[in-house]
Amino acid sequence: MGSKHHIKFSRPLLKWWHAHGRKDLPWQQEPSVYKTWISEIMLQQTQVITVIPYFTKFINRFPDVDSLATASDDDVMSMWSGLGFYSRARNLHKAAKIITENHNKQIPNTYEALITLPGIGRSTAGAILSLSRIEPKAILDGNVKRVLSRFYSVQGDLKTAETQKKLWHLAEKCLPVKDYDLYTQAIMDLGATVCTSKKAMCSMCPLSKDCSALEKDIVYLLPNKILRKKKRRESIYFMIIKDPSEKLLLQKRQDKGIWGGLWSFPELDTSENIEDWCDRKVGKSLKSLEYGKKMVHGFSHFDLEINPIFIKINKPIKKQKNQKIFTSHEISQLGVPKPVKSIIKGLEG
Ligand code: ADE
Repeated sequence: MGSKHHIKFSRPLLKWWHAHGRKDLPWQQEPSVYKTWISEIMLQQTQVITVIPYFTKFINRFPDVDSLATASDDDVMSMWSGLGFYSRARNLHKAAKIITENHNKQIPNTYEALITLPGIGRSTAGAILSLSRIEPKAILDGNVKRVLSRFYSVQGDLKTAETQKKLWHLAEKCLPVKDYDLYTQAIMDLGATVCTSKKAMCSMCPLSKDCSALEKDIVYLLPNKILRKKKRRESIYFMIIKDPSEKLLLQKRQDKGIWGGLWSFPELDTSENIEDWCDRKVGKSLKSLEYGKKMVHGFSHFDLEINPIFIKINKPIKKQKNQKIFTSHEISQLGVPKPVKSIIKGLEG
């Protein structure tokens, strides 16, 4: 840790952070291990600007491990509604229960214990320990991989174990013994604001003097681009059924797959026939059926084309076990996918 060779990395970075780093993020105000944990989970795969309002809402609703552990699934999922990657919320909830049952309501303060909790991997455990000033532990998230692979010209494919190993080794070597909390925030901030993937601001970078990629003029070739396959597209119908009391029919999704554990509209593949489905499910109580405007929701690995079908019925519907009817106010207290939220907003007009 902090060997001479890597001081040319950590020293200018720390100096830069004091002048330009982020110091007023909500999880930096009256910081706690709990806030650091929640924010690090939210910040996996999601940018700071998106996370901020969710973080504030979440902390107000669940101010400590105990309130999170004792909350209902729907309550936790509703706080995550719209943020995406919902397994993160389910894992947080599970981890809070484990902390309550096995760790005396205290978030563990060792790497070995943290890493066993659902949703906490090597980098997140490192971030929690370092940012909370418990112990210096390296992190290696997407931003850090980009900064290190450029500064040291690490050229291998990020997916391979060999490249990962090299980067972890550098991450550990660069971590200073002193100010390791500030350093950890600094390297993330630099990756998010200066050493960005498409518009790197090398002229403002505190590391430009010794950056190997800049010297070789290969900044934009690093980290080694993984060829992205063109996203596949899937197409579904959302069956939006309003019953005589103006309530909407929702169905709880399985934990696995997209939108796991959330409440959504019954869904139909677009190869299926809507009229046949209505005959079976709604029969003679069908009052009206309208086609809504199609919308496209992007996931990390595919695009989902959603075709809303608005159905009104004049008799209460037969419900399956995983289905319930709700008022739109009740729905606002549930975890629902983003497109469901926006459709309901549209219905309220
Ligand atoms: N990304 C992950 N953790 C972060 C943090 N603490 N601050 C800014 N960006 C981050």
